[in-house]
Amino acid sequence: MRLVILGPPGSGKGTRAKIIGRIFGYPVVTTGAMLREAVAAGTEYGKIAEGYMKKGELVRDDVVIGIVEERLRKPDVEEGFILDGFPRSVNQARALDRILNKMGAILDVVMYVTAKPETILSRLSLRRSCPKCGAIYHLKDILPKVEGVCDECGSKLVQRDDDKEAIILHRLEVYEQQTFPILERYERLGKVREVSGELKIDEIPGEVERVLKGL
Ligand code: AP5
Repeated sequence: MRLVILGPPGSGKGTRAKIIGRIFGYPVVTTGAMLREAVAAGTEYGKIAEGYMKKGELVRDDVVIGIVEERLRKPDVEEGFILDGFPRSVNQARALDRILNKMGAILDVVMYVTAKPETILSRLSLRRSCPKCGAIYHLKDILPKVEGVCDECGSKLVQRDDDKEAIILHRLEVYEQQTFPILERYERLGKVREVSGELKIDEIPGEVERVLKGL
């Protein structure tokens, strides 16, 4: 199965991607996490990405496409993958077509996650994440067992720099202008399945199995 998860910031793409990865056993490729790792490691790509990410802008297409292309050459994704946060522009969608073409593969489905603006704001301002393993928590709804500590690896949880209100609002504008238009493209191809980002966490596995049944 080759799946893209698309939706506004904070709609729950990353959370859902991890659940789907666990159910179906495919690797999750999260461009936001890969870029944050590159920034933390101070790589060439990371140095370029940092400025864009701090402002809530999309990182330059050539950088993101380069990172994804390199990742999708690894053998563990030959049978399938879940793309979380890519593509996010028309250029990136074209690049994904080209990469899949080279792999002799097709995209099966685009899962489009919707959520109300007030849900998004609350989710992002109360999100805490693990800088080491990428686990995601929420200060009201998804609490770690020990306050401020990751259940998975014991690292100290952090608030992302781009989860400040002014940057969140800008990320939402960027989403509307640059990412939302690619939905139409996938709708024309009959690939889109819409899901509600408002569901409770324990309702997600059942919904995922229903929506992705037969793939
Ligand atoms: P990225 O990290 O991808 O950020 P995003 O798209 O803004 O999405 P988020 O990670 O903020 O939210 P999400 O939808 O994954 O929600 P989550 O599951 O965490 O990108 C960051 C930056 O990197 C971009 O701004 C850009 O600069 C750059 N970038 C990345 N990809 C790029 C690309 N392709 N091209 C160019 N630039 C790129 O959930 C949010 C919160 O809600 C969490 O606290 C979670 O615990 C909670 N939650 C989730 N679901 C539920 C639920 N059902 N019930 C209760 N709480 C929930």
